[in-house]
Amino acid sequence: MSGSWRIGVLPGDGIGPEVTAEAIKALHAVAACGGYDFAFIHAPCGGAALELAGEPLPDVTVELCLKCDAVLFGAVGGPSWDGLPRELRPEQAILGLRQRLGLYANLRPVRTRPSLAGVGPLKERHAGPDVDFIIVRELTGGLYYGPKRREALPGGGWRSTDTMVYSSEEVARIARLALRLASSRRGRLTSVDKANVLECSRLWREVVSAEAGHNCVALEHLYVDDCAARLVLDPARFDVIVTENTFGDILSDLGAVLAGSLGLLPSASLGDEGPALYEPVHGSAPDIAGRGLANPVGAILSAAMLLRHSLGLEAAASVVESAVDRVLAAGHRTADISGGGPSRSTQAVGDAVAAAIADIWAEGRQLR
Ligand code: IPM
Ligand code: MN
Repeated sequence: MSGSWRIGVLPGDGIGPEVTAEAIKALHAVAACGGYDFAFIHAPCGGAALELAGEPLPDVTVELCLKCDAVLFGAVGGPSWDGLPRELRPEQAILGLRQRLGLYANLRPVRTRPSLAGVGPLKERHAGPDVDFIIVRELTGGLYYGPKRREALPGGGWRSTDTMVYSSEEVARIARLALRLASSRRGRLTSVDKANVLECSRLWREVVSAEAGHNCVALEHLYVDDCAARLVLDPARFDVIVTENTFGDILSDLGAVLAGSLGLLPSASLGDEGPALYEPVHGSAPDIAGRGLANPVGAILSAAMLLRHSLGLEAAASVVESAVDRVLAAGHRTADISGGGPSRSTQAVGDAVAAAIADIWAEGRQLR
């Protein structure tokens, strides 16, 4: 089978360019093995675009994304832009892209890899691959996008407002997606809210329950504080977690640490039409940027999700995931997951994954 696709590449800031380069390396290996043709089209975003074009998300970048089959995103942000007003901050690049591409569903799979037993906070308790859940984070609503304001108080000081807003349809569409996902997995859906306090959460709970209806998925509701505690105490109980934007942001960092390192987690941001966007869950980590220290696995696994969800190349996606497992098991690890042992550079791990992709592909060919 062969095919030809256009992939938009937005490396962004900090470690974004380094890890994105390794994801592209993996995709080149897939293209060479499978006879696919991937055209990589680069565009600036975040702080990098600010320096070049005076804005974090130039229209040309959005237009380029809209002409692509999928978008690979690195990370944005850094201390040099921290003092800027909100609309100029690099983070506006990813927030604007999510909104303008209609990417309302963010899938963040969390899995403990057998090859990483002995790494991360679960090392004492979890030898096996028993933690395997997906966070489905609503991505274009809630506090992130509701009206914001800051006003000067007459007696001095300030008052600021962020508004959490959800319509029933916004909740219903993410609930449907999460229910479909749960029924294709272990059939268990946890909906997370703060319905004891927030009106948005009360609507969320009603709508998710109604959508679940007679669906054979087992639905439970948890308050977000309770969910956070259970994620630490008993992560293996979770299958699919669906939650609103801010709660999903926070819980997914917790999930990433459970998996061993924030550097390991991929994500896919999906809408109903147009290109989807793939990015590692970690941020731009300016403190380690440019030193070959960043873990490229989150970005490489994001490329695997791209192959699966946007290009329909399920077998190729599995090969990339197996290659990552093989490389980690062989001890090729960046410092964040080396457990104090010897560590490899970002580029060395990327090279090892590309080589393992070629090996696994060839082994598969021999089996057929
Ligand atoms: C994430 C990030 C972003 C978010 C930032 C960079 C705006 O933390 O993708 O989780 O909060 O959504
Ligand atoms: Mn985050």
